[in-house]
This record gives sequence, C-alpha cells and structure tokens, in this order.
Amino acid sequence: MFDIAKVRADFPILSRTVRGGPLVYLDSGATSQKPFQVLDAERHFYENSNAAVHRGAHALAEEATDAYEGARETIATFVCAETDEIVFTKNATEAINLVAYAFSNATDKARQGIEVDQRFVIGPGDSIVVSEMEHHANLIPWQELCSKTGASLRWFGITDEGRLNIESGVIDSTTKIVSIVHQSNLLGTINPVREIMEMAHAVGALGLVDLCQSVPHMPVDVVDLGADFAAWSGHKMLGPTGIGILWGKSDLLNSMPPFLTGGSMIEMVNIDHSTFAPAPKRFEAGVPMVAQAVGLARACEYLTDLGMENIFTHEQELTAYTLAELAKLQGVRVIGPTDMVERGSAVSFVVDGIHPHDVGHLMDSKGVAVRVGHHCCWPTCRRLDVPATTRFSTYLYNDKADIDQAILGIMAAQDFFGSAPRVSA
Ligand code: ALA
Repeated sequence: MFDIAKVRADFPILSRTVRGGPLVYLDSGATSQKPFQVLDAERHFYENSNAAVHRGAHALAEEATDAYEGARETIATFVCAETDEIVFTKNATEAINLVAYAFSNATDKARQGIEVDQRFVIGPGDSIVVSEMEHHANLIPWQELCSKTGASLRWFGITDEGRLNIESGVIDSTTKIVSIVHQSNLLGTINPVREIMEMAHAVGALGLVDLCQSVPHMPVDVVDLGADFAAWSGHKMLGPTGIGILWGKSDLLNSMPPFLTGGSMIEMVNIDHSTFAPAPKRFEAGVPMVAQAVGLARACEYLTDLGMENIFTHEQELTAYTLAELAKLQGVRVIGPTDMVERGSAVSFVVDGIHPHDVGHLMDSKGVAVRVGHHCCWPTCRRLDVPATTRFSTYLYNDKADIDQAILGIMAAQDFFGSAPRVSA
C-alpha cells in the first residue's frame, strides 16, 4: 500500500515553513524534492569513497568506480535497459544535444570524405520532426541542426484540447529523426510515442523520446517504447541536480561521433589524432558526476521500493482531484486535457483577469510553490493563445491537503484582484 504520511516523512524539506505556514510544493515538474535516502547516499559516498573514477591505482578509486558503474546498472534496470546503453550527461538538455551534435559532426565528417554511419548524415532535402508541445530543450537543438545542415524542421500540431495532432505526411521518406515528448511538461498530455516511433521506423528514420516528465511518474520500459534514444534528467525523479541520462541502442551509440572530447573517452591517443572508446565511455569525457550517479541510483531504488505503479495510481487520483477542484472555480480555465485520458500530473491553467505571475505571487504568499510563465514551451503557449500559465505539478509526496491549500491561493488571488465571482454551483 502507498502510505503518503510515511513517504512525506522521508522528505526533510516538507517539514519547513514558508511565509509563516507549511510548505506546499507543487513545482516538481521543474525539480523534485529529495528524500533522506538519496541525500544520505550522496553524503556516504563523499564521506567514504570519494575519488575520480576509471583512473587512480588506489582503493578509493576502485570503490568510486564500482559505485559509479553500479549506479549505471541500477539506473538501466529501472528502465529495462542494458547497462552499456546508459550514458551519463549533465542533464536531459545535454543528452538531446549529444544526439543532435552526433548528426552535425557525422555530417561534417561525411563532407570531408570520412566514412560515417549514413543514418547520421543529414542535409538539404532531409527533415527532422518534432511537435508543437516540445520543451525548448527538444526543439532548439533540432532548429540549430537544421540551420547548420540545411535540413528542414517539421512538426505535429496541437488540438485545442492540448492533444497531439498526428497528421499523416509530416513524417515521410525525407525524415531522418523524429523527436517527441512523452508527457508534456506544460499540458500534462501523455503522447502515443510507441505509435509515433513506429511511424518513424516505417520510413527508416530514427526516434528519440523526451522522458523528463514520464520516467519520474510512471513505469517506463525504454525498449517497449520502441525508440532508438531517450533522454531524461535525474533531478526530477528525486535524484541530484547535475546528472541526466541518454539511453541509446548500443549499435547506434557505437557508431556516433562523440559530443565532448578529452580524457576518459579515448581508446588511443597520438599527438595528431585519437580513436575513441566504445559507448558509453566515448560520451563521458572528463571526471564525471560520480556522487550524483550514486544519488540517482538510490532514487531509483527508492522509487522501485514504493512501486512505480503505486506512484502512478496515487498521482492519477490526485490529478483527478485537482481537475475537479479547479472546475469548481469560476474564471479558471485549464490549458491542456481536462479529463484523465492519457494525462499526467502537470496541470496548467489561467485565471480570468489575473496575470499568471500575479497568481503565482499570491499563491506563494500562502506557502504554495508553483511555476508560472511559458514553461520553456513558448510555441505551445502561442498555439493555445496564452502568454503564460500557472502550473501545478505534483509528485508522490503531494496530497489533497496540498491541492486544497493551492485552491485557496487561487481564491485569494481572485479576491485580491476582484476579478471573478469564484465558486460555481
Ligand atoms: N522543464 C522544467 C519545467 O517544466 C524545468 O519546469
């Protein structure tokens, strides 16, 4: 059984007060809070085994290397992947850039007559497909790739309800890669990524899925998603900041040019040229984020012990409650799906006559932490004709009392700005 009181007791920050009252943290879509278990794991590493990995002929270096590689194995198991298919990056943004740069580096090499895997060679006449609900991190790297190579960017649009509009013809024989978000950080929409990956593969394109808002919240099997690559961050799933994951199929990773070069990622170095180690090492130049990997592995164990199905069920119930409570308020409009069909726990809304930033400030005065703005999804906001939204993003440690407090915050904003009769019958 999912014991919310027991879960909350694991998160020290939830016992602090903010603006004179208890903290209500509804900004886990931006970053999650950390349980004792993760904090202790990182601290234990620094206090007992701290050393640089894959170098050093001493006991600490060996322990640190074992901890780092053990973390890779734990994280791989968490998403049903092979261990050598997990690449540690700084964050999900870097993971997506790593793939985009593999295309531009391979294309540069091909132009110089160097033999490269043709799946990564792209140019005029080729296309890259994204969607209108991408986070900037899964949009701008592809825009840049297009501007460097002459490829064109295409996208699936969004319906008025905040669902993907999967029109035929967007993916076609010109498409080299399709990169799509699993769960929208702004709308909460869960996209049919398996179907989209099948469409990509049917024309010989590669597929990448942005899992930032799904891996923390639901069971995810990267192989079952049918993608070639997946990217997500550690800090949104109870882990430390400074670590993200790129998952990629082994044969692809091993045929991609590296993104960053330097120590650790080499096979052999001469004064005028070098060869590179197999993946994942070829993508991990320099001393990596060892303590963060240890912390993230502990986060995976913590989530596994609770059960990802249980966490998902808890969040689904809470999201249904959130939508129902928001629906009782006059002058409040949810941006994104208003039902529980294929939607997760990020709930964005606008309040008539009050700018989202003002809503956020009023909520903050009640101790409620929310994100406001375009949520790094400017094209999504433009499409749905809102300059910004206020967003609740809940996680395993939130409960109905948090939502009740947040609703009071919206009412306080409406009272303060005199903007609306607020409760419908
Ligand atoms: N991508 C994070 C969010 O949605 C930062 O808030």
